Amino acid sequence: CSQFSKGVYAIMGLYDRRTVNMLMSFCGSLHVCFVTPSFPVQTNNQFVLQLRPQLQEPLMALLEHFYWTRFVYMYSSDSGEDASMHISFTVTLAPAQIAAQKRNLKNYHYILANLGFLDLNVTEFQKLGPNVTGFQLVNRSDPAVQKINQNWLDFDNKDLKVARRRLKYTGALTYDGVSVMATAFQNLRRQRIDISRRGNAGECLANPPAPWGQGIDIQRALQQVRLEGLTGHVQFDERGHRTNYTLTVMELSHIGPRKIGFWNEKRGYVNTAIYRPMQEEFYNVQNKTYIVTTILEAPYMMLKKNHEQFLGNDKYEGYCAELAAEIAKHVGFTYRLELVGDGKYGARDPETKMWNGMVGELVYGKADMAVAPLTITLVREQVIDFTKPFMSLGISIMIKKPTKSKPGVFSFLDPLAYEIWMCIVFAYIGVSVVLFLVSRFSPYEWNGEESDDEDETTPEYTNDFGIFNSLWFSLGAFMQQGCDISPRSLSGRIVGGVWWFFTLIIISSYTANLAAFLTVERMVSPIESAEDLAKQTEIAYGTLDGGSTKEFFRRSKIAVFEKMWSYMRSADPSVFVKSTSEGVIRVRKSKGKYAYLLESSMNEYIEQRKPCDTMKVGGNLDSKGYGVATPKGSPLRIPVNLAVLKLNEQAVLDKLKNKWWYDKGECGHKDSGRKDKTSALSLSNVAGVFYILIGGLGLAMLVALVEFCYKSRIESRRMKLIDAAMMSTSLGGIAVAGGGAVAGGLGVGPSGLGGENGRVVAHDFPKAGAQGLPCMSKAAGLGLSSTGM
Ligand SMILES: *[C@@H]1O[C@H](CO)[C@@H](O)[C@H](O)[C@H]1NC(C)=O
Ligand SMILES: *[C@@H]1O[C@H](CO)[C@@H](O)[C@H](O)[C@H]1NC(C)=O
Ligand SMILES: *[C@@H]1O[C@H](CO)[C@@H](O)[C@H](O)[C@H]1NC(C)=O
Repeated sequence: CSQFSKGVYAIMGLYDRRTVNMLMSFCGSLHVCFVTPSFPVQTNNQFVLQLRPQLQEPLMALLEHFYWTRFVYMYSSDSGEDASMHISFTVTLAPAQIAAQKRNLKNYHYILANLGFLDLNVTEFQKLGPNVTGFQLVNRSDPAVQKINQNWLDFDNKDLKVARRRLKYTGALTYDGVSVMATAFQNLRRQRIDISRRGNAGECLANPPAPWGQGIDIQRALQQVRLEGLTGHVQFDERGHRTNYTLTVMELSHIGPRKIGFWNEKRGYVNTAIYRPMQEEFYNVQNKTYIVTTILEAPYMMLKKNHEQFLGNDKYEGYCAELAAEIAKHVGFTYRLELVGDGKYGARDPETKMWNGMVGELVYGKADMAVAPLTITLVREQVIDFTKPFMSLGISIMIKKPTKSKPGVFSFLDPLAYEIWMCIVFAYIGVSVVLFLVSRFSPYEWNGEESDDEDETTPEYTNDFGIFNSLWFSLGAFMQQGCDISPRSLSGRIVGGVWWFFTLIIISSYTANLAAFLTVERMVSPIESAEDLAKQTEIAYGTLDGGSTKEFFRRSKIAVFEKMWSYMRSADPSVFVKSTSEGVIRVRKSKGKYAYLLESSMNEYIEQRKPCDTMKVGGNLDSKGYGVATPKGSPLRIPVNLAVLKLNEQAVLDKLKNKWWYDKGECGHKDSGRKDKTSALSLSNVAGVFYILIGGLGLAMLVALVEFCYKSRIESRRMKLIDAAMMSTSLGGIAVAGGGAVAGGLGVGPSGLGGENGRVVAHDFPKAGAQGLPCMSKAAGLGLSSTGM
């Protein structure tokens, strides 16, 4: 009443359990507003403005979130004020036993029912490592809050000479209360509402007390204040309670308090952290044996050949086995490799929404880390954490290695295509024939002078370019050798000229190509890229059925891949395979008519495996990475990620890849084959030329023999004819003349003995006969001319 009579407009202050009712009834009847940061009370008195938000609803929401069915609520009945005394915890024991169990604090989950989790000294809790959850009203990371807090500290220090203390949430509530009042009075003044007081003490003591006329205006002004204070958004409902506020929910972790969610009226409790059993985080990373889940996949993780003789991690070898060892060495923990139960990588079942494979083991806490060729994908990253990729890869093309074209015996023909050789043969014949014909018709090709020593029966004019000489001339020119005859007519020279030109170009081209063709064992692969694949239809290509590669093509919007997908989808027989090994076998068996699309790392690995008949061609079609995975919020995540980066920078990862892909490859090193290819020509490269030489010599001898026999036959047949003629004339002579019959009969004897003899005889005999028998001269002349040729 003394305050009221002094003419106060509103009262700001604290109450406790004993004074709260009295204060409220005074304010209600006198229409004087009471602004308080004290604990909230359930009242409909509109003249009491409570700055402290209600905690019941958030608390209930949290209990529901944690599925608490049994709990104990502890509070201070007197002031309801000492925040740290509001402790709730689950118990599985009867309350009587609580005291006995008190030392075993670890078994409980505590919710601190105050609004200043960060104001508490939680180091004692932290040592024990129990579940502790609480609420935080003041957002300490807000710059405005930080500034005022700094002012507060400075003020404390300078003027009061007391130890520095942070601004607690109760202080923040008081600060906001003053702000609310200041704002309300400013608003009233701006609206020019008259709130002048002409009060006296009598009004207070009157019975019934007369309420203050303008009190309701002030109450309305206060209630309508909205501002962003230290305690967040300040707004009151019609009962004078805080509304539209947000509480941060925090818990203790090994690094200190951390935010796990928030609560507001509209959305209730929203969890923003994936829950991890707190206990694990309190253990030091370095002193625990972690379970590392993995999967058998060559060359990442393989059982040693003699794995029965080993125990634990020594049973395994491979890229990931060594990677896990390196990471453990860098971070400093011990681990146990365990194969994933279902042998899968990890996908979410569309119906049950449960994860299987390695991802499932991480999500459901069966393993602490996954070191395996696990692709980093969006859906997986949503439930587990990946490190930076330890290996990058993409979809690539596997084809059967084109068989090295062994230098054939006739590889000297290779520089020109077979069609060209055929054309050359036809051109050769054609040119020879044309030359022959041209020479026949051209008068300049005929000459008669040189036939002086010719036989009397030879025609007067001769022509060098018979068909055989024409062929010989063309061949000589083509072989760059020339010929002792050459055309004299213009037409013949034109033919010769163009043929020489043709020869020049063809031979130069041949020579230019020859070296390259003979020295390089060419490995021409029909496919060099995805575009090549898409362009053709001869070589089939496909992917694993139901894998990410198939998905990639299904979803791709790139024209080339869309084209490939439409081919693959409709191909008959199906180009999809059930497993990677089936795809590899299909590539190997289908004689280069099937290309398989798979991840590049696997492609490179298989390329190095016996029987070494596959190869990777072209670049990668997409790009992704394999990462080491840890459960969400695992303390291992950051150290493991750093270790992977470090291993990468120290080139340990490259070394591992070289070791497991190429050093242990069964096909020799990548490039070793290509270097010694420019070696000297081997006999096999040019053997064909020798064969042709030998063949030609043989053919020449054969032809010579045939010629000889043919000639001999003709000769002997002719001789017989002459002999027969001689015989008949001799007989005729006897019949006519009756003389010399003995001599004629004698002459026949030696002529039948042998060719040479016979010819000599034949030569002499007709001459002798001719003298005696003029009628025989014609027959003898015939015989002479034929032997003289
Ligand atoms: C922490 O509390 C949660 C929820 O009440 C419970 O599931 C978990 O087991 C508790 N952890 C410990 C270490 O007690
Ligand atoms: C709640 O507070 C926000 C500011 O934090 C404000 O924009 C919004 O209008 C308020 N909602 C209601 C229903 O008053
Ligand atoms: C790890 O455990 C050993 C005993 O097993 C202990 O002596 C050491 O202090 C522990 N180290 C840490 C960092 O906790």
